Amino acid sequence: MTTATGTRGRPATTDKERATAGRPAGADSSRDAGPALAVEHLTTVFTRSGGDVPVVRDVSFEVAPGGTLVLLGESGSGKSVTARSILGLYGAGARITGSVRLDGREILGGDMRALRGPHLALVPQDPAGALDPLRGIGSQLVEVLRTHGVCESRAQARERALELLALVGIPHPARVARSRPHELSGGMRQRAVIAIAVACDPRVLIADEPTTALDVTVQAQILDLFAGLQSRLGMALILVTHDVGVAEQLGGGIGVMYAGRLVESGPAAQVLRDPRHPYTAGLLAALPTPGAERGSLAVLPGRPPATGEDFPGCPFAPRCARAVSACVQVPPGLEPVVVRIPEPPSEDGALAPARVPEADAADETSARVRRAACPVVAADGATPSVTGAAVPVADDASGSSDASDASDASDASDASDASEAVVR
Ligand SMILES: Nc1ncnc2c1ncn2[C@@H]1O[C@H](COP(=O)(O)OP(=O)(O)OP(=O)(O)O)[C@@H](O)[C@H]1O
Ligand code: SF4
Ligand SMILES: [Mg+2]
Repeated sequence: MTTATGTRGRPATTDKERATAGRPAGADSSRDAGPALAVEHLTTVFTRSGGDVPVVRDVSFEVAPGGTLVLLGESGSGKSVTARSILGLYGAGARITGSVRLDGREILGGDMRALRGPHLALVPQDPAGALDPLRGIGSQLVEVLRTHGVCESRAQARERALELLALVGIPHPARVARSRPHELSGGMRQRAVIAIAVACDPRVLIADEPTTALDVTVQAQILDLFAGLQSRLGMALILVTHDVGVAEQLGGGIGVMYAGRLVESGPAAQVLRDPRHPYTAGLLAALPTPGAERGSLAVLPGRPPATGEDFPGCPFAPRCARAVSACVQVPPGLEPVVVRIPEPPSEDGALAPARVPEADAADETSARVRRAACPVVAADGATPSVTGAAVPVADDASGSSDASDASDASDASDASDASEAVVR
């Protein structure tokens, strides 16, 4: 597995600055204190005159201080809406229910303005839209640093702004600081937005496709930067991406979203090597491999359900080669899953190797999720195979009862102590 390494170019953040941000200095002191972010049963419904549109459905996960969770999924699966719902970025047109706890404190529905910046920060998917087109990048950074009290004087803030621009790999920070967003390339804008997001050393950073517009070398630098902040400050990272390579590089936990739900999760190395859900298997099979023969790509047939579409059973059933009749009738249960992720980078910057989850090491948990169980896979334990074509939903009596039984079992395990469940 390739991992991001090194902590070069980190800013010399002072203890005073961290104290200003409202939490203890140093990563280690915060690592034993429970999850940095706990999301439970998060559901986002857009309210429209034509009817409610559910987009995120019953999503639950936890990320420990210093931990990483990568959210992966096809376009439209609800990754960005999940991120924005956590940050409270929707107005009256959205009904968000469930629970979002930051260091144990419920924040859903509260005043998020004070929390955004030092506690919870977002690298939005659209960097151009996140910047003020009429002001220089440096001035926007200075404003963030001053507003959140990270720097006492304007001169300090200007100096820190240049450090931050250098930190995210911008070659001529002073020139870029004077530039307005339209004077920068897409990659430069993206890095400027990342600089703003990490300006207050956030407790939890949600980065929505932060490296999509960047070439691979800069992408590696940005992932390196995130790893350094995680190590130094205990920053938890939730990274949204389409890019399986990024998920692999970051290590940590992974959650695969489909039609607004988490359908698979586990340590990234394990999920990518041995996917348990037919959708994840299809997604991975559809990745191009260098040197593969032309026409050898497995295509995931069909399309995801339309946004907000209601489905009585598994939303993946129309595309699933393993579907049986129960799949279209019974919604898959949610099973609690513990994801133990690699330690954050050590002092010398090297990432520790991923640990294999062990049932008796629950206290080392760093991320937990609930995923929609696939009862058919759970029933026979086989790794899902994916073919290029969907088979019609089988009217299979035995498969049906297997699936129902397995679904019941998932519901039962849902009620059990999540810390006893492990990713298999
Ligand atoms: N404000 C909104 N009002 C209504 N529907 C919305 C709104 N924002 C997003 N959606 C819908 O919610 C669904 C999920 O959108 P989301 O942006 O979360 O997808 P995504 O997984 O981030 O996709 P991508 O990988 O393309 O960024 C989409 O069908 C989208 O059209
Ligand atoms: S086997 Fe059934 S429950 Fe599992 S992913 Fe396929 S359709 Fe969904
Ligand atoms: Mg998105």
